[in-house]
Amino acid sequence: MRKASKSSVQKAGVGPERMKVIRDPTKMQATANRLRGEGLLIGFVPTMGYLHEGHASLLRAARKRSDVVVLSIFVNPTQFGPHEDLAKYPRDIERDEEMARQEGVDYIFYPEAASMYPEGYQTYVNVEQLTRSHCGVSRPTHFRGVATVCTKLFNLVLPHRAYFGQKDYQQAAVIRRMVKDLNMNLEIAVMPTVREADGLAMSSRNVYLSPDERKDALCLHESLQMANDMFHSGESDAKKIVKAMRANIESKRSARIDYVSIVDTDTLEELDVIRDKAVVLLAVFMGKTRLIDNDILCRGTARRAR
Ligand code: PAJ
Repeated sequence: MRKASKSSVQKAGVGPERMKVIRDPTKMQATANRLRGEGLLIGFVPTMGYLHEGHASLLRAARKRSDVVVLSIFVNPTQFGPHEDLAKYPRDIERDEEMARQEGVDYIFYPEAASMYPEGYQTYVNVEQLTRSHCGVSRPTHFRGVATVCTKLFNLVLPHRAYFGQKDYQQAAVIRRMVKDLNMNLEIAVMPTVREADGLAMSSRNVYLSPDERKDALCLHESLQMANDMFHSGESDAKKIVKAMRANIESKRSARIDYVSIVDTDTLEELDVIRDKAVVLLAVFMGKTRLIDNDILCRGTARRAR
């Protein structure tokens, strides 16, 4: 992959002062085609908006390694189940635009649902195995929506590289698999989870938490730390680690476990014994808000930073 160069950015006339908002998918694709024609390297960060530091870290990574940074903001209806929070998903486009400008975004792609899914729309992308477990159990059509919208976004933005967060571990695994299986012409970069000072993983959904739920929500990070400590003290029995994590989470009043699971980092298949590497995945309802988090366990690496 080529390296981004300053001179080519200047040549294209893009930069923070000139951030453009594109709403029309056809126009986005024509713009991306033109940029590619000029030999520019396109870095892409797909989001649903209501941006926080986690999103900003992806934008920064993209800014460092691309000539042109495209951010998409689209609350994608096909990835929400019928009883999920599509209508009340938090939105603040003005604040998002300001943050995007500060992070040096060149284009915001901000389409309307009707232009992404016009009448008669009927094509979906289904990654079979990886989407059946974990979040796919309580959200059976979620990853089909994610894979479909990412395919559409990749076709419109034509990125050389797209940036995803480890925070949504299963999502990143699904997208990687899809890109590989369908020979898509881009690279997927997965960046570390950004956390609040007390350890809670940043998420647009954290605004739903009441003060008590917010306090209890620390059990996600705490139990991941517990897993890490046990693993690095020599425990390799996944069931024992999961049991300790569950007990910690269940001691919180507002917490209800969806899943706690230790799996292979690629296939997401459940492990009994952890050899050199595994990932701990968890989803917990805090009241009505469902939070997810994860951590990679890796022999031979230091314990993760607190
Ligand atoms: P959204 O939840 O807005 O997240 C956009 C991207 O930001 C995802 O890649 C997600 O993993 C990453 N992200 C979220 N919180 C993060 C954190 N605390 N640290 C690091 N990265 C974080 O994920 C989606 O939107 C959608 O499913 C999408 C991929 C855009 C498809 O609609």
